[in-house]
Amino acid sequence: MNNFTHISDIEDLQVAVKEAIDLKQDELKFKSLGKGKTICLLFFNNSLRTRLSTQKAAQNLGLNVIVMNFGSEGWQLEFEDGVVMNQDKSEHVKEAAKVIAQYCNIIAIRSFAGLTNKEEDKAEQVINSFKKYAGIPVVNMESAIGHPLQALADAITMEEFKTKHKPKVVLSWAPHPKALPHAVANSFIEMMQLKEAEFVITHPVGYELDSEITKNSKIEYNQEKAFEKADFVYVKNWSSFKNYGKVDNIDASWMITSEKMKLTNNAKFMHCLPVRRNVIVADEVIDSKNSIVIQQANNRTYAAQIVLKKILE
Ligand code: CP
Repeated sequence: MNNFTHISDIEDLQVAVKEAIDLKQDELKFKSLGKGKTICLLFFNNSLRTRLSTQKAAQNLGLNVIVMNFGSEGWQLEFEDGVVMNQDKSEHVKEAAKVIAQYCNIIAIRSFAGLTNKEEDKAEQVINSFKKYAGIPVVNMESAIGHPLQALADAITMEEFKTKHKPKVVLSWAPHPKALPHAVANSFIEMMQLKEAEFVITHPVGYELDSEITKNSKIEYNQEKAFEKADFVYVKNWSSFKNYGKVDNIDASWMITSEKMKLTNNAKFMHCLPVRRNVIVADEVIDSKNSIVIQQANNRTYAAQIVLKKILE
C-alpha cells in the first residue's frame, strides 16, 4: 500500500480486520519493521484518540515519531498555484511538503473540512497537495471528507462484538449544537458498503449525506423504525450537507435513550468519540454494558498499526 487516504486503499477489508485482531495478541510482533524510519504526524486540527493511537501504533512498529500541531505552530500554508503571496500565507505547500518529506518516510495528516465551501472540501486540497508534492506515503488521520482510520477501527470492533454473520447495523444522526463535518459518517458508510450486513442510515429529512457516498444504502427517516432489531447502533452528528455546513436541526428527540435501545436486538452502542453526553446520547446508554465506545477507541491503535505495517512492507 502506498497511501492510506481512503478505506478502499485496503485491498481486502476482511483480511485487514482479521490481521488487526491477530495483532492484538502480540502488538510488538513487528517492532523491527520501522527501525531507522520516521513518521511525521501533522495536525491542522485538535485530536485525542487519533494523535495518541497513531503514535502508539507507530512506536509498536519501531518507527520514530515526530508530531507537529501544524495548525497552531506551522506557517500558514498557501495551496493555490500562481498566487502572489503578499497576504497572510507565509509558505507554499510545494516547499512545505517537500521539506517535511526529507525528514521522514511517512506523513500522516489531520485536516478537517472548512464546511463553508462544499466543492473545496470535496477536492481534499490539503491531503491531495501533500500526496502530490511529498513523494512519500501519506496517511489520512481525518480529512475534509473521510476518516478511514476510524472506519477501520469500527470494522474491527464490530467483528469482535458481532453475534451473527450478517448483523443489522444502524448509523443514526443525533443532535449537536455545533456544525460538525461529514467525514466519520462518510467513511463509516463506505466501510459498511464493503461488509455483509443489513445496513440502515437514519436521520431527519434534509440531513441527507452526499449521494455519491450513500449510493444505494438504505435510508429510513423514522429513527425508531430503523432501530428495530438492530445489532449495532452507531451514532454520529453531522451538519447539513444540502445547506452546506449549517445546523438546521437540533431536535433533542433524536438523542439516543435507553427507551430507543429497547427497540433493538440488545444492540451494542458505538460512537467514535468525543461525544457530548445527554445531547447525542443519554448517560444511561453510554454507561450501559452495551456501550463499546472504549473498546472501539482502543481499536484505533490496531487500525493504525495494520495500515502503517502495510505501508512499511
Ligand atoms: N475519533 C477521533 O478521531 O477522535 P479524536 O478527534 O480525539 O482524534
